[in-house]
Amino acid sequence: MNYRHIYHAGNFADVFKHVLLSLLLKSLSRKETPFFYLDTHAGAGRYDLNSVAAQKTGEYRDGILRLWNSQLLPGIEDYLYAVRALNTGNTLRCYPGSPRLARYFLRPQDRAVLLELHPDDCAQLKIEFARDTQVSVLRQDGYAGLKAFLPPRERRGLVLIDPPYESEREFQQLMEGLREARARWEAGLFVLWYPIKSRSPVEQFHRALVSSGIRKILLAEFSPYPEDSDFRLNGCGMVMINPPWKLDETLRSLLPDLMNVLQLQPVGRTEINWLVPE
Ligand SMILES: C[S@@+](CC[C@H](N)C(=O)[O-])C[C@H]1O[C@@H](n2cnc3c(N)ncnc32)[C@H](O)[C@@H]1O
Repeated sequence: MNYRHIYHAGNFADVFKHVLLSLLLKSLSRKETPFFYLDTHAGAGRYDLNSVAAQKTGEYRDGILRLWNSQLLPGIEDYLYAVRALNTGNTLRCYPGSPRLARYFLRPQDRAVLLELHPDDCAQLKIEFARDTQVSVLRQDGYAGLKAFLPPRERRGLVLIDPPYESEREFQQLMEGLREARARWEAGLFVLWYPIKSRSPVEQFHRALVSSGIRKILLAEFSPYPEDSDFRLNGCGMVMINPPWKLDETLRSLLPDLMNVLQLQPVGRTEINWLVPE
């Protein structure tokens, strides 16, 4: 396990993923009844952008820092409040990982389970939520967690599957995990992040999703770079199964504006598509 998220915290891919996650969690919080949040690959929960690791790559400068310094985009207010909640004044120092971001949306009746396998990141995550009775942190394999924690007693909620894609088998493991999870909990809102380096593995993944028989699969892709180099992260996507009503419309108006702030050359591509409709 070499992957450490601190090198990438707050980059364009994090911003895209976390803006969408905020919209989904906000939508779950519109109903009074409790919801459950499962983060299978949780990371450290909070990242110091002044740390040596974050400064070494500086990826956040073309991500959250651009947004922080730009005019407020309509539709991302909640996401920015959650980032601001970790910082004082106008200086951006800390960036929330998915667990800290999700915590911002939990109400007293809601609950979260966070799984992280890396010993250091898991230790940091445990400290982050040490006194929080609504949040459980476990050093456990995220895919095993899909079996252990689903279906949740709340019967509504969101599962984020955000693996590091270090292994060539990750897309395959993801599909196996998703099948298991869906067999346990068909009504859940499942959210899967994936990288776009070249199109071929992505298209293979899309085909696997289509042939899985799962319905109501919304796809959002966000590529600030041309998709012609296998050597860097050119873009990324999110698969959302059972998304809230009209989220597709919201994203169609929001993502081009977000791309305008984050793209480095005028080549950015955004796409929102029903991979499989209802
Ligand atoms: C992309 S990062 C997660 C970022 C986080 N979800 C966020 O948005 O802030 C992936 C994380 O998965 C962890 N990891 C890798 N393999 C895992 C596994 N099998 N189960 C749980 N966590 C794992 C890595 O240590 C890393 O912290």
